[in-house]
Amino acid sequence: MSDIDSAGNRLILFHQTATKAVADKEPTMLDRGMPPTQTAPAISAEVFRTVLGHLPTGVTIVTAYGETGPVGMAMNSVTSVSLDPPLILVCPARSSSTWPDLRKSGRFCVNVMADHHEQTCRQFAGRMADRFRDVSWHRRVGGPGIDDAVAWIDVQIEEEHDAGDHTIVVARVLDIEARTDSAPLVFFQGKYGRFAA
Ligand SMILES: Cc1cc2nc3c(=O)[nH]c(=O)nc-3n(C[C@H](O)[C@H](O)[C@H](O)COP(=O)(O)O)c2cc1C
Repeated sequence: MSDIDSAGNRLILFHQTATKAVADKEPTMLDRGMPPTQTAPAISAEVFRTVLGHLPTGVTIVTAYGETGPVGMAMNSVTSVSLDPPLILVCPARSSSTWPDLRKSGRFCVNVMADHHEQTCRQFAGRMADRFRDVSWHRRVGGPGIDDAVAWIDVQIEEEHDAGDHTIVVARVLDIEARTDSAPLVFFQGKYGRFAA
């Protein structure tokens, strides 16, 4: 879909409205008090990904000590949740083959990646058998700390909540550290980029 803005520029718009009627769905807390004709989203995965891809994020690699060695995966669903107690959340896909190994020790490390880590992030999002190949790291309390990251957040898993095809994992911060002399890698519209203040 396209449109023209007030300055005459062509805009590409992605727009999809929730239309699918709720017939056999159990009422949720949000539905309570809503009229019975309330509708539920029928948003396609493609449009969902495209529109949510307009939210710029950092890129992290979540690591842990697996039973047979270090394990890790790229994740951008990382959010600060609570100051007291200090909690964060991450959202692994239920289809992830790495998350079951990651969660086993009950702890993990969120490595916030730097702008020179694009290739490393691709490695941790891809199908390579040994994602740690040629990656230098040091021991941290939650999991492997990738050298030269922008920040490291070591956590212990507190709660896991089902959320559609993902799991919301709430974790308590055990240790936390950041550098002030490096810039983060950014993810926007499915592409890696750099941050400019
Ligand atoms: C920038 C970026 C962010 C990602 N964020 C997540 C995420 O938050 N949760 C998730 O489950 N997978 C995420 N992925 C996908 C995983 O890194 C990985 O590709 C996927 O889990 C398949 O590998 P696995 O089967 O080893 O888990 C992300 C990938 C990229 C490139």
